[in-house]
Amino acid sequence: MKLLLTGVSGLLGINFAQEMMDKHEIIGVDRGKLKSAPFKVLKHDLLDAGAVETVLDAARPDWLVNCAALADLDLCEENPDLAKQLNADLPRRLARACKERGIAFAHISTDAVFDGKKDGFYSEEDPPNPVGAYSKTKLDGEWAVLTENPKAIVARVNFYGWSLGGRRSLAEFFYNNLTNNKSMSGFTDVIFCPMLVNDTARILVQMLQRGLKGLYHLVGPQAMSKYQFGVEIARRFKLSESEITPKSVNFSGLIAKRSNNLWLSTRKLSTDLGADLPDFSTGLGEFYAQREQGYPQKIRGYQQA
Ligand SMILES: NC(=O)c1ccc[n+]([C@@H]2O[C@H](COP(=O)([O-])OP(=O)(O)OC[C@H]3O[C@@H](n4cnc5c(N)ncnc54)[C@H](OP(=O)(O)O)[C@@H]3O)[C@@H](O)[C@H]2O)c1
Repeated sequence: MKLLLTGVSGLLGINFAQEMMDKHEIIGVDRGKLKSAPFKVLKHDLLDAGAVETVLDAARPDWLVNCAALADLDLCEENPDLAKQLNADLPRRLARACKERGIAFAHISTDAVFDGKKDGFYSEEDPPNPVGAYSKTKLDGEWAVLTENPKAIVARVNFYGWSLGGRRSLAEFFYNNLTNNKSMSGFTDVIFCPMLVNDTARILVQMLQRGLKGLYHLVGPQAMSKYQFGVEIARRFKLSESEITPKSVNFSGLIAKRSNNLWLSTRKLSTDLGADLPDFSTGLGEFYAQREQGYPQKIRGYQQA
């Protein structure tokens, strides 16, 4: 199939392209970071007038997965208008343009649409209640997409992996500090469900192949604290977990508010796919194997002319 990926230089986009380029024809949309990617790249700023239609008419894909976003929570607080344009208005335009052209559309949302006050896990039925500019604009994006294009997939995700810049994911934060013998904190009171980004990509393709539509939680099947996640990384890479200090997010000094409990149920997705989602330790094992095989250096090399 021909798969168009917006945000292809991002953490999800680059790993998605890397994962699928041997199985599908990949076309990525990039603003100029990728100089030597082994897949086709269209250079565009998607906020430019007419860019969405130009890209779709040039690429004519079977599937579009929208990985473009303003995904930095603190930047969203500082620039709510840009957050709205990228996280709500752009998805609406993409959803509409895909519907008009008969392109299957998957939009990426976030676990952070919930306020985290629930005791237990969140299902797709639970009412969201965003706590900041990022999550509010992401929720607006979900509604815009499903209103414009009810056949679209909206996937609430949380993932980790190797990024182009080497610092985008929480796993890289722990790995970089641990390998440099630098102490760091890990939040004990923020619970989430991390999934290896390559698994996220593989499952999204399965969802497209099966013709799923509507809202899904696409996160790892195991909930843990961010501190525990850091410890798991230290153990897998045989690094010193004692460098990670357990800490409360209340003393983080971060600009944007964070929800404490982002434990999401994936039962709807695993039922509709007819399979369990890959477990945490398998994903972490693959993340480790990628490091051993030079995967981070390989994808970062795509930025060199
Ligand atoms: N990382 C996580 O764990 C996580 C958790 C929950 C949800 N999500 C969601 O997952 C999706 C992907 O996140 P990510 O972590 O991969 O984000 P990311 O690394 O920040 O990537 C965002 C992508 O959007 C592109 N982009 C931004 N503005 C653009 C514009 N005007 N025109 C074209 N492209 C533009 C960026 O291009 P440049 O490189 O040129 O800036 C980049 O490729 C987002 O929807 C995010 O909300 C991520």
